[in-house]
Amino acid sequence: MTDILQIVLAKRPAGDVTADCFREETASLPALAEGQILVQSRFLSLDPYMRPRMTELASYTPPFELGKPLTAGSVGEVVETRNPRYAKGDTVIGMLNWATHTVHDGKGLRKIDPALAPLSAHLGVLGMPSFTAWYGIKHICKPKAGETAFVSAATGAVGQVAGQLAKLAGAQVVGCAGDDEKCAWAVREAGYDACFNHRSESDPGAALDRLCPKGIDSDFENVGGKIFHAVFARLNNFGRVAFCGAISEYQDKEPMAGPPKMFAIVQRRLTLQGFIVSDHAPLMGEFAAEVGGLLKSGKLKSRETVIDGLAKAPQAFMGLLRGENFGKLVVKVS
Ligand SMILES: NC(=O)c1ccc[n+]([C@@H]2O[C@H](COP(=O)([O-])OP(=O)(O)OC[C@H]3O[C@@H](n4cnc5c(N)ncnc54)[C@H](OP(=O)(O)O)[C@@H]3O)[C@@H](O)[C@H]2O)c1
Repeated sequence: MTDILQIVLAKRPAGDVTADCFREETASLPALAEGQILVQSRFLSLDPYMRPRMTELASYTPPFELGKPLTAGSVGEVVETRNPRYAKGDTVIGMLNWATHTVHDGKGLRKIDPALAPLSAHLGVLGMPSFTAWYGIKHICKPKAGETAFVSAATGAVGQVAGQLAKLAGAQVVGCAGDDEKCAWAVREAGYDACFNHRSESDPGAALDRLCPKGIDSDFENVGGKIFHAVFARLNNFGRVAFCGAISEYQDKEPMAGPPKMFAIVQRRLTLQGFIVSDHAPLMGEFAAEVGGLLKSGKLKSRETVIDGLAKAPQAFMGLLRGENFGKLVVKVS
């Protein structure tokens, strides 16, 4: 028997996530059955999609179960194995528990080369959030020279890559982020042409009128709510919206209404497309080659916030929903 630390969903949130939604537990793991592996978590990714999964509402992923450990995209090391596909010492990526260790049947895990990049990068700039940015920019927003591209949550895990890819495609790129330091980084390091602070500037429409005088041709939408409404009103003819997420609405008790004057979709021949990155897994190789190349040549910058210790994961997750992370948020578990 091995004793492990795990964090379970103690209560479903009503409104803002609170500390009592989580419970830290010690659990004893039984001996491995045939076909199982024991994975020790190294890094665990905290992501906005976890908030909808804490509720019972139907979404594109099933709800977390009450009293059971939450799960997260994670990088870990195989420390025991009764599965011939995995050797002790293999580094793997996939969904693991919010726990120091997870017993797993190995399905859905992928081996990675730990020498390729820092382990946390596989959860960020080389992983799911960056793939999300790449897909939305390349296949939906399709920014180009002479156009204005907008990216909300511009310095987050997804937004920071989306903005840089839009810039590399030749567009004028404008973003918004939640504090002045993030906005300064977006312009100085990530190459955004402008970025406004959506917390200190309460009227996003006024900011967009100032920074996007020619309107907006493509929107990589991470935030939703009043920022999206302001963007929608300023979309040019043939504008494209990659609807990636709506983090500003995830804690709302009632779903928010859409923007007014939706007939503009017809009048301005707009394309509004929602997408879920996991539907596009066959393109992962193409993404890795392209974005890996940009990273290697120094053309792509990335930021991450690393939290030390599994016990701090709940606080860090609540902080993500308040914008306290800067770039990809990961927890160093061991
Ligand atoms: N469709 C998909 O397949 C897919 C995949 C991955 C992610 N997503 C979505 O993409 C979006 C960004 O995800 P991410 O991983 O890059 O998260 P993230 O940026 O690392 O973290 C979330 C950020 O959102 C901003 N934010 C939080 N509350 C906000 C509010 N009320 N108004 C405006 N901004 C707020 C904060 O940054 P500021 O300080 O800048 O406000 C916060 O740091 C999320 O909506 C997520 O659900 C979708």
